[in-house]
Amino acid sequence: MARILICDDDEVMRDPLAAWLREGDHEVVATSDGPAALSKLSSGLKFDLLITDYRMPKMRGTELLMEVKRIKPELPVILMTAHGTVETAVEAMKAGAFDFVQKPFNGDEINIIVGRALEWSRLKLENAALRSMTEMSAPRPMIGTSEVMNEVRRKIELVAQSSTATVLIRGESGTGKEVVARHIHSSSERKERPMLAVNCAALSENLLESELFGHEKGAFTGADKMRRGRFELADGGTILLDEISEIAPSLQAKLLRVLQESQFERVGSSVTQQVDVRVIATSNRDLEQSVREGKFREDLFYRLNVVPIDLPPLRARVDDVPELCRHFLHQIAKRENKAFRHIEPEALRALQKYNWPGNVRELQNIIERAHVLERDPGVIRGATVEPWVISKEIAGASLEQLAGKPLADIEKKVILSTLNQFRGHRIKTAAALGIGVRTLGMKLKKWREEGELVEAGV
Ligand SMILES: Nc1ncnc2c1ncn2[C@@H]1O[C@H](COP(=O)(O)OP(=O)(O)OP(=O)(O)O)[C@@H](O)[C@H]1O
Ligand SMILES: [Mg+2]
Repeated sequence: MARILICDDDEVMRDPLAAWLREGDHEVVATSDGPAALSKLSSGLKFDLLITDYRMPKMRGTELLMEVKRIKPELPVILMTAHGTVETAVEAMKAGAFDFVQKPFNGDEINIIVGRALEWSRLKLENAALRSMTEMSAPRPMIGTSEVMNEVRRKIELVAQSSTATVLIRGESGTGKEVVARHIHSSSERKERPMLAVNCAALSENLLESELFGHEKGAFTGADKMRRGRFELADGGTILLDEISEIAPSLQAKLLRVLQESQFERVGSSVTQQVDVRVIATSNRDLEQSVREGKFREDLFYRLNVVPIDLPPLRARVDDVPELCRHFLHQIAKRENKAFRHIEPEALRALQKYNWPGNVRELQNIIERAHVLERDPGVIRGATVEPWVISKEIAGASLEQLAGKPLADIEKKVILSTLNQFRGHRIKTAAALGIGVRTLGMKLKKWREEGELVEAGV
């Protein structure tokens, strides 16, 4: 039922393992080293579980595990260890493995552990859904009065008047797609009913199908209870399908049917369910492009795209930055029961110049960080914030982007970013850059006198 990736260089172990898992009704993809497993994981095929050997030539199992935790934190990992290596097992659990299994083991043993791992990720998802259900009831304010955001507001008002129109919200990660979705729900007639979210990118198609539509008892190995899917649970309300572009073709057809006829069947059942749910979908990819490439059904695209709402990236609405900053500072003040902290105009200017690849979410993180690290209790200073955005810019800049810029600018950026890295420690900074502390001091003094550096924090 689930799709499992296994990674072991030893085929004497790998082949029977694959066979046992297939007997347990799972789809198995086998690889023989860490790099191959990683490339499968980023191939677009979605996996529900990784089982990896510990001792492998190119990359150790724990190294693979750590890399996987970075790129796919939600994927459970089971580590296979040789007899008696308890330290490895401890190391694995610390690095975030779901469990480990000692070799040799048999098919029953591994299938029990696999069942536990899959159940664990299902529960985790369910908790996240429950959390989002309660959170959804209190919509977060939507800040921003720039021209583009006002346009978004007008659209929200319009779609909220209809309680059935499907909405497609497009925008880069962190632009506020979920914020908009909640607003639509809470300003519509459906507001007293639940709103549920499903992330289509997080599960393989089989598990996603059962997540969306539910399953009957005994529909597949491990389905020991009947379970309702999100469409049934959201009846009368709204369902938010996040990252819709990632949904597999077989499910696209089923989704189209729900959209057109409001009908579906639970996995393993022939009884047709009828629901009344508004669908809001989000995507940070160009869906038209996916249609042209044949990855996304054209009819489904048109069915979803009844009302498109495009959320512009933050860099295209920097007018909203000051208001957003103040909003986040108000939130913090309320949460921590402290006085509101002002933000210096210089800090705002620095923030408005930055290009925000992570959009509003990134801005929120910066404000949280400034709140924690700022020494001055009443204010967020430019001197605190400016070096951060500069170092982010440099970290994100490619050589091509730096090429053609005045050397003096690049030098200033590198110096400030290094200073930031060493938390303002001048001796360490100078040593890292291979210049004298006096030289560093003189440069900083000069920039400050020229008014290019805000305040004497650095
Ligand atoms: N206009 C806004 N006003 C206030 N807060 C906002 C606004 N837009 C986004 N945020 C905040 O920024 C964070 C990211 O927003 P959200 O989760 O809606 O983004 P998203 O587009 O769904 O991102 P992803 O594509 O990664 O799912 C949230 O904490 C949200 O509260
Ligand atoms: Mg989102």
